[in-house]
Amino acid sequence: MAENVRLGFIGAGGIAREHSYAIHGRGTLRNLLKIAEKKPGDRATVTGAEIVAVMDPNPEASLLMSEKTGAKVFNSVTDLAKDGGVDALYICLPPFAHGEAERAAVQYKIPFFCEKPIGLDDGFLTEIASEVEKQGILTSVGYMTRYRKSVQRAREILLKDQAILAYGGWWGGSPGAHSWWTDKTKSGGQFHEQATHIVDLARYFFGEAVEVYAAAAHGFNRNIPGYSLDDAVSVTIRFANGGVANLMASCSSNAGGNLFLDLHSLNHNFHFAEFNFNLSIKTKGAEPEIVKGEDGIFTVEDQAFVDAVRTKDQSKVLSSYPDGVKSARLSLAANRSIESGKPVSL
Ligand SMILES: NC(=O)c1ccc[n+]([C@@H]2O[C@H](COP(=O)([O-])OP(=O)(O)OC[C@H]3O[C@@H](n4cnc5c(N)ncnc54)[C@H](O)[C@@H]3O)[C@@H](O)[C@H]2O)c1
Repeated sequence: MAENVRLGFIGAGGIAREHSYAIHGRGTLRNLLKIAEKKPGDRATVTGAEIVAVMDPNPEASLLMSEKTGAKVFNSVTDLAKDGGVDALYICLPPFAHGEAERAAVQYKIPFFCEKPIGLDDGFLTEIASEVEKQGILTSVGYMTRYRKSVQRAREILLKDQAILAYGGWWGGSPGAHSWWTDKTKSGGQFHEQATHIVDLARYFFGEAVEVYAAAAHGFNRNIPGYSLDDAVSVTIRFANGGVANLMASCSSNAGGNLFLDLHSLNHNFHFAEFNFNLSIKTKGAEPEIVKGEDGIFTVEDQAFVDAVRTKDQSKVLSSYPDGVKSARLSLAANRSIESGKPVSL
């Protein structure tokens, strides 16, 4: 392997630019005007990696990443996988666009990082997960919240004092027109696409789910072109450990958003709040503990993947592709429950 782990990006939109910023210290649109080169005091960047290849059907997106990172632009996924000289792929695609990229990664046995949620189709997820396992391909899924100190602290406690009840969600305001997010057939809906971070954390704390029952609100958001999302979703989950959760998503909360996860075990209460997942813990008979959420979490997640690729050590990654499949399956089951009005077994 070269001195740096060489990365190829498939998809160079919003989240790809976030990773590009984490890796190179430059390259996000948000920071385009501000950051030409990394300067002292800028956010920490990943060490030992560089973006060398990019492919996006939108030439502007490819060119922007190429200008900011020096990556070579490819016109097809296969050409990039075959001739890009990459040690690993970043698959940063909208939920509906998964397929060719993962199949190329598997065909050419290239480790890959895949942004959440990793797809919409159960059959496809099973196909890729079983190839990944069969061939021992190193993978990571973009559940960056798992890397937070607050999440690790809660998990450490919950491994000894099991989670019993959780209540959490991701609420936001009414969206504007969007090319794929507002179309449920392309994004999978807000619960699958966005609240998936909360769903994944619930799995991280409780273990696997056995049953899901979901109901949705409709008809409050009006006159949004191409809109087919649920306005709000409430999902009841039963876990194999006997615990239960109610997780939710809303894109019709215009007086303010909310991102939270409250849970308890026999002897502890946990309250996570906001994007940084600031945590307060109450322990029976002890002083409260506060774990503040850190900035720059994409850098932490990307460094873990790059280090895993360099050392060929999957254990450095906190969410593998086969594990990400289980989070995706849970919210896809919630969608089926919304449609049928019945509980869905997992
Ligand atoms: N981890 C997080 O917190 C986080 C944050 C934002 C987005 N995401 C996830 O990242 C994914 C992408 O979101 P985004 O905000 O970057 O979307 P985006 O629309 O900004 O960018 C997607 C890019 O993919 C390109 N694309 C579409 N089909 C393609 C294909 N077949 N091959 C190659 N490129 C293709 C598009 O041209 C576009 O440039 C989504 O699944 C989203 O949920 C994760």
